[in-house]
Amino acid sequence: MTTPPKGSGPGPVSLEALFLGPQSENQEFFRSMLEFLIEEHVHWRRDFHPKDHPLLTPKEMRAPEFLATADRMREVLLDLSARLKSTSTPWFSTRYLGHMNSDTLMVSNLAQMAALLYNPNNVTYESSMATSPMEIECGQDFARLMGYDPRTAWGHITSDGTIANYEGLWLARNLKSFPAAAAEIAPELVEDRDPWALANLSIDRSLDLLDVAKRSNQLAEILRRSARGAGAGRFPLGKLLVSSTRHYSWEKAADLLGIGVEQVVRIPVTDRFRMDLNEFQEAVDRLVREKTPILGVVGVVGTTEEGAVDEIDGLVRLRDQYARRGIGFYLHVDAAYGGYGRALFLDSRGTFLPYERLRDAWGKGTERPGPESAVPSREVWAAYRAMSAADSITVDPHKMGYVPYSAGGIAIRDRRLLGLVSYSAAYVFDRDNPLDLNLGSVILEGSKAGATAAGVWAAHRVLPLNRDGYGRIIARTIEGTDHFIRTLRSMREFSAGGERIVCEPLLANPDYNIVCMAFNFKGNPSLARMNRLNEAIYHASSYESGPLYNDKWITSHTELERTIYGDAPRPFLDRLGIDPEEWARVGTVYVLRSVVMHPWLAHTSTYPEKWESYLSIMKGDIDTIVRGSKEVRPPRAGSAPGRRKG
Ligand SMILES: Cc1ncc(COP(=O)(O)O)c(C=O)c1O
Repeated sequence: MTTPPKGSGPGPVSLEALFLGPQSENQEFFRSMLEFLIEEHVHWRRDFHPKDHPLLTPKEMRAPEFLATADRMREVLLDLSARLKSTSTPWFSTRYLGHMNSDTLMVSNLAQMAALLYNPNNVTYESSMATSPMEIECGQDFARLMGYDPRTAWGHITSDGTIANYEGLWLARNLKSFPAAAAEIAPELVEDRDPWALANLSIDRSLDLLDVAKRSNQLAEILRRSARGAGAGRFPLGKLLVSSTRHYSWEKAADLLGIGVEQVVRIPVTDRFRMDLNEFQEAVDRLVREKTPILGVVGVVGTTEEGAVDEIDGLVRLRDQYARRGIGFYLHVDAAYGGYGRALFLDSRGTFLPYERLRDAWGKGTERPGPESAVPSREVWAAYRAMSAADSITVDPHKMGYVPYSAGGIAIRDRRLLGLVSYSAAYVFDRDNPLDLNLGSVILEGSKAGATAAGVWAAHRVLPLNRDGYGRIIARTIEGTDHFIRTLRSMREFSAGGERIVCEPLLANPDYNIVCMAFNFKGNPSLARMNRLNEAIYHASSYESGPLYNDKWITSHTELERTIYGDAPRPFLDRLGIDPEEWARVGTVYVLRSVVMHPWLAHTSTYPEKWESYLSIMKGDIDTIVRGSKEVRPPRAGSAPGRRKG
């Protein structure tokens, strides 16, 4: 086999060349590169002291047990392959419109598979000299993507968004108790020793204090007295304010870090499913009146169910206003899903573009300029712009980074924060190496696959984190979302099984690329009956109805509960003709949820037909369901509601 050519340098990227493809269209490249990478690995082993004698002799390799063992391995692998093929979810197919999944980038798959053979462990540089630097580079990529200064910021790859959220709260928790602990150990370093002032010191001033403590060699002793050393109960840490649509990992984080799930305050959302900033302000004011500190606030960019983007600009403005009044708290943005979307707004120099220039800039170097629908709203743009003022941000490559599992990530605005969570184990860490490369000393995880870092790194090297790279894929998904909604609206009313059926998207113009929707019998005011219809549709177009091979399209679903969403879904229910009393009575609405991550559902020659065929498939499914039972099956016992899946 010949050596593949070296990188051809920067230039326009063809999105069509990036994925194996729904019909394995790019299999030739995939196979040849995989073969090449395996060959490289085989040579690597042989070339390591080539004069060493082979340990296995041909005679041993012909022995009956040897051959039987090889047969057993073959059988197991055949069994594995059969299981994978018969039950895996076909994320790659454009018929899959369910969770946050689609095809993954070929270069990332190949990089991860190749690196796996070398089995690097990024816990410490010693065991991952190739892949630890890649993880650090990816951390710098995250920092730049978020508008942080890469000279002072930091970031790294976590196993998932959940762990990144834990890390964000870990930093916030350790910092919150630091000023009070400093006042006990080194009162000379602290200006105002009033407990309320100490619990409200701004993030920047707390970090300056950390610096001074380090310089005066008192850091270790202060940390021993803080939440890190003495436990979360040592000082009042206060409440964690999150949007009611937050991912459930925040409750888990509060539990694990000893903060307590009861300390999580859920702020209601608006009818755009964004955190309601008036409610937020009221909650903060109430806590301040009660003299309860605020540990931190979490804004979400791309909520799990709706893809909603909280007004981060508003949160930053309020955070700064409160800081001026002596009320300080940490701001984390959970952009596990929406984080890569910031690439939409960055030019090749990393400049965040003014709103007016977005449409011109989109399409540069591409086959044709993107339509208006690929440009997010001004509110969403403003929220993304303000992310650079957050203290830390979760951003997951295994979601909108199109990288295989398991790859989450975190970016931290000020790397001094790492001093609060730094550990070192003498047997693992070489003190002469820069701390950066010994990741295990400052992160939540221990041993971790360097192969993951290789996958993320390779993706970032091919697709820059700006409008010329990731931004182009993501713009297509937003455009595809718009087509989906327009298609749904075009089938607003149709006949199925002798009934008239109506259909509504949850939002006509969602912030990102997730579409929630529901069908109803025309004139049916009963929420319970509508829920049964949508549950039956989900059943027919998911694993619930048997092997996915038989499904013509695959969706996911969620339930919006009144206890979490308040009255936010009311306008949606009104449009579907549900009696206004029903919301209070039933308290939950079952919706179908489609994350539109495929880049193929906009901007290709066949996409309009694709949406048309979805439309007829949906109608066909509904026709069968309604014919089967006029009342539509009652909910099945044990069918899990499936909320907040990733
Ligand atoms: C907003 C948000 N945060 C965090 C997570 C958790 O990510 P993971 O499943 O990678 O742990 C998700 C998952 O969907 C999410 O949507």
